[in-house]
Amino acid sequence: MARNKIALIGAGQIGGTLAHLAGLKELGDIVLFDIAEGTPQGKALDIAQSSAVEGFDAKLKGTQSYADIEGADVVIVTAGVPRKPGMSRDDLLEINLKVMNQVGAGIAKYAPDAFVICITNPLDAMVWALQQASGLPSRKVVGMAGVLDSSRFRHFLAEEFDVSIEDVTAFVLGGHGDTMVPLTRYSTVAGIPLPDLVKMKWTTQEKLDQIVQRTRDGGAEIVGLLKTGSAFYAPAASAIEMADSYLKDKKRVLPAAAPLNGEYGLKDIYVGVPIVIGANGVERVIEIELDQSEKAMFDKSVESVKGLVEACRRIAPDLG
Ligand code: APR
Repeated sequence: MARNKIALIGAGQIGGTLAHLAGLKELGDIVLFDIAEGTPQGKALDIAQSSAVEGFDAKLKGTQSYADIEGADVVIVTAGVPRKPGMSRDDLLEINLKVMNQVGAGIAKYAPDAFVICITNPLDAMVWALQQASGLPSRKVVGMAGVLDSSRFRHFLAEEFDVSIEDVTAFVLGGHGDTMVPLTRYSTVAGIPLPDLVKMKWTTQEKLDQIVQRTRDGGAEIVGLLKTGSAFYAPAASAIEMADSYLKDKKRVLPAAAPLNGEYGLKDIYVGVPIVIGANGVERVIEIELDQSEKAMFDKSVESVKGLVEACRRIAPDLG
């Protein structure tokens, strides 16, 4: 059986890390595409040379031509401009919308059967625009945000409780970052929900609230530290987990920006919800009941995503 083919559109910080991880995990052969000449070629060659030491088999190719992504099984999109200090995700909207149009056309032409994972920010709007621009079935186009938000949340919780990260689960809904909705009653340490851990005096409500806020601001915290770019290790690892679930038909239950078709009372919009990712792409959207305060946070998050999508429609009326 031929190896899977992974196409990475954007060979910057996240794209390079994606290629490295996909190689280390032997997910398939890897094509790195970027408009910056030399960058994808250089990274492909560098990672290919590491394969001798790491002992993985994968062909790597860097390119400026969409024809090279032909027949890709998975396409992960990071093309665009990253957030700089002081810049909000929304500031990126206009530039990255144009990029999504180009990328969508390339995928439509050369990889129409791929499972597409968008990472470019502002995520919830860009994944919508990419699906519109590519014309791929919406169950085959998702956005990576929830896995990253929940992995940040899990990291902070594991530190707070001084337990293994493996035993911490987190459940988040809504848009990426600032409007993320953490569902603490579904987030657990070895099955014990966070509100119970507060009662058991493992932590206080105040500390938990601080952790939630730090998680929401997780991207900005790293931008502030790096000064010249945004996070890339955890975003890449998160997208690889999603790609792995698709390629191996693992049917992982993961939070992702997914197309809603009546779930949560919403239509024609991408919002972060728990989904099952398998060989058919988005195989199920999991709809849970929200209590009053969760619903209020979720509605606020949805409003902010709707605002971004409206702005996209104004800038590019041809899109949906
Ligand atoms: N087509 C292909 N590649 C493009 C295009 C385009 N039209 N426009 C820009 N790029 C490339 C850039 O040349 C660059 O190499 O996209 C790459 C982006 O890489 P970085 O600037 O290093 O950004 P990165 O940190 O990887 O983040 C990428 O993910 O988390 C989000 O906000 C982040 O939107 C950003 C994206």
